[in-house]
Amino acid sequence: MDHNWIAIGHIDDIPLRGARCVKTPDGKIAVFRTAENEVFAIEDQCPHKGGPLSQGIVHGKAVTCPLHNFVISLESGKALGADEGEVRTIPVRNIDGQLSIAYQAAALVAAE
Ligand code: FES
Repeated sequence: MDHNWIAIGHIDDIPLRGARCVKTPDGKIAVFRTAENEVFAIEDQCPHKGGPLSQGIVHGKAVTCPLHNFVISLESGKALGADEGEVRTIPVRNIDGQLSIAYQAAALVAAE
């Protein structure tokens, strides 16, 4: 399937081991930057009780939910350890630091 690539800003807009939240018509997407400068995008909604994963702590290629400490893989979107659940992952493109996410819908408003 072809992707629509939607520009979401520069990698330097995201703090190291941090995230920013992008609003889409389908909900919020959390875009993470790891300590190794890799970028991942997943739904900004914890599979446990909907906590804002973009406000969680990034470690390695995972994020810990700020509410009840579920650990979610940024690569697979799956809860790690004994916890169960999964969030959607979204492809990210990084061209010279300019980030885009793949999305079906045309309208997209970046959260400031
Ligand atoms: S809402 Fe994320 S761990 Fe409970």
